[in-house]
Amino acid sequence: MAKAVRVHQVGGPEALVYESIDLRPPGAGEVHIRQHAVGLNFIDVYYRTGLYKAPSLPFIAGNEAAGEVVAVGPGVTEFHPGDRVAYYANLGGYATERNIAADKLVKLPDHITYEQGAVLMLKGLTVWYLLHKTFKVEPGHRVLIHAAAGGIGLIACQWAKALGAHVIGTVGSKAKADLALANGCDHVILYNEENFVERVKQISRNELCDVVYDGVGKTTFPGSLSCLKPRGLFVSFGNASGPVPPFALTELNNHGSLFATRPKLNDYVAKRADLIEGADTLFAAVLGGKLHLPINHAYALKDAAQAHIDLESRKTTGASILKP
Ligand SMILES: NC(=O)c1ccc[n+]([C@@H]2O[C@H](COP(=O)([O-])OP(=O)(O)OC[C@H]3O[C@@H](n4cnc5c(N)ncnc54)[C@H](OP(=O)(O)O)[C@@H]3O)[C@@H](O)[C@H]2O)c1
Repeated sequence: MAKAVRVHQVGGPEALVYESIDLRPPGAGEVHIRQHAVGLNFIDVYYRTGLYKAPSLPFIAGNEAAGEVVAVGPGVTEFHPGDRVAYYANLGGYATERNIAADKLVKLPDHITYEQGAVLMLKGLTVWYLLHKTFKVEPGHRVLIHAAAGGIGLIACQWAKALGAHVIGTVGSKAKADLALANGCDHVILYNEENFVERVKQISRNELCDVVYDGVGKTTFPGSLSCLKPRGLFVSFGNASGPVPPFALTELNNHGSLFATRPKLNDYVAKRADLIEGADTLFAAVLGGKLHLPINHAYALKDAAQAHIDLESRKTTGASILKP
């Protein structure tokens, strides 16, 4: 029988309940997959706590995974039993098996493992669009990446460096600083101990950054704005420390005619052609040796609550997976 981690009432990690579920045969346009690896993401925490609203209760947590096709529903021609696939989709990911719309799936190339696939589809695609679409990182750009040793962070630092950027990262500990330096950062700032704005000014000799990628939110705002050169771009893409408080647009003027955006992955892969472009670019980067996926933690799916505790208490580095 299929098992899943469901949330019946939003709340703390104890809200994640591992239990049996009924799985009907795949409907029209759906594919039934047996999952081999599930990605752990901070967004899973937001849904669990209720910061992001799930459409209904109970819901199965989880937003990215990889596995093999078991059966296809009526009308599905692109996928067949035995295909190795991966996906990003809102909710339903923490499960041993599931049905999913075929248009969310991509086929995994032979040399991409299920574990890699399970961290590429949300974390990888997010880094892809942040560095290629939200702002096109080019040689010579100076970029600031907060939480540089996290799941998104280590991939973003590697890729920004490979694109020729000068990469400054912020991290919460010395051990994380070493990791960020080994993954593409030119400079690392311990933002719990040092004033990161002053350090960015020093490092850049007051020239500041072209773009700031901020997934931390509340505690790095408004400092992130002060790290940008005139007409730079503030990319607020997450809230690990809590949401950015409302602010006056004149702040952007005061800091030098800044631009600001609050992007989300859904809007960058809504069209299937965009999803395929992003996935193909990622697979090529991994297979070509440009990106090394730091999968540093693995938990049994039934231990999802412990994985959330570790993620929220900043114990994890790089990507983590759950094993069904
Ligand atoms: N908009 C999108 O499309 C999109 C898509 C995916 C992810 N995201 C966002 O990207 C960010 C990173 O996601 P992730 O899954 O890769 O997580 P992660 O970076 O692995 O974990 C979050 C990190 O944030 C830092 N942090 C700072 N203050 C914190 C606090 N008060 N509590 C917990 N952590 C804190 C910690 O690193 P230090 O100890 O080094 O400070 C922690 O390790 C999240 O904000 C997530 O929502 C956005």
